[in-house]
Amino acid sequence: MRILVTGGAGFIGSHVVDALVSRGHKVTVLDDLSTGKRENLNRQAAFVKGKVETLAAERLVRRLRPEAIFNFAAQKDVRFSVSRPAEDALINVVGLLRLVQGALPHGLKRLVLASTGGAIYGGAKKLPTPEDYPAHPFSPYGVSKLASELYLHSYRHAGGLPAVSLRFANVYGPRQDPKSEAGVVAIFARRLLRGQRPVITGDGEQSRDFVYIDDVVRACLAALTTKHLGVYNIGTGVETNINELARMLNLLVGSELQPVYAPAVAGEERRSALAIGLAKKFLGWKPRVALAQGLAKTIEWQIARS
Ligand SMILES: NC(=O)c1ccc[n+]([C@@H]2O[C@H](COP(=O)([O-])OP(=O)(O)OC[C@H]3O[C@@H](n4cnc5c(N)ncnc54)[C@H](O)[C@@H]3O)[C@@H](O)[C@H]2O)c1
Repeated sequence: MRILVTGGAGFIGSHVVDALVSRGHKVTVLDDLSTGKRENLNRQAAFVKGKVETLAAERLVRRLRPEAIFNFAAQKDVRFSVSRPAEDALINVVGLLRLVQGALPHGLKRLVLASTGGAIYGGAKKLPTPEDYPAHPFSPYGVSKLASELYLHSYRHAGGLPAVSLRFANVYGPRQDPKSEAGVVAIFARRLLRGQRPVITGDGEQSRDFVYIDDVVRACLAALTTKHLGVYNIGTGVETNINELARMLNLLVGSELQPVYAPAVAGEERRSALAIGLAKKFLGWKPRVALAQGLAKTIEWQIARS
């Protein structure tokens, strides 16, 4: 297939590009390299440097006539979304609509949106949280992802756009940027490997659902071909708290560095774990990599590149 991958120089997008290229697809990456890196670009994929929210992106889609689009390009910094919701929405919502507007005239076999499971349910009382739990996001970032999903729903309803939204849990693994605001695994691993104590915001008892990148790539490939359109949680269903994560990483690194505790981040989710029954049933997908195994691979990668 001819496939456009936005955000293909980033963490998740670049792994998906590699998987698509190795399966013989003809891939073009659109990325502005704001958080993505040239070194992540697959040499067998075409690369266009540009912003997804521009008219140029819409024209690119019209010219390329891709059969499928993966939209990973996003403003993903939750704190930035709180202070600059207009910029967040411009990239995340208008960016998606640019792609849709470009694709509608020629038709598209599949659009896959990278949505969020960690920031969309807004303090859910039910854990693991299923897709039909009311989504009332706490952050503008979560709102922009929910709005994107709803746009896709409306286009799907009108029969014009076969779209799948994947609500990712906390994805971790090689190529995740340890310098970014999110990505606690990458950040902690880097600190421990440098002999620095990890910094935990709040009491560390907040939980997250950590899913390994290879499992996420398999979910993306399943979303490309499934006949069952709609919204899917992609996680493990397992809650791990941040204190426990720090303990596991210490064990794997062979260090005993005690965390430093900093003030909690306002508006942060207390607990998060995603129910994955729908993905199991309709995508034939389930996670295969256990947390300890995925953490070990992530540490190996960080050691190899340092
Ligand atoms: N990593 C996670 O745990 C996680 C969880 C839930 C959802 N997501 C979503 O998955 C997607 C990928 O996240 P990631 O962790 O790989 O982040 P990332 O920052 O590594 O990748 C995002 C990519 O998009 C590019 N980009 C950003 N703004 C752009 C713009 N305006 N135009 C074109 N390109 C732009 C960046 O340069 C980068 O290459 C995002 O949509 C994110 O919201 C990630």
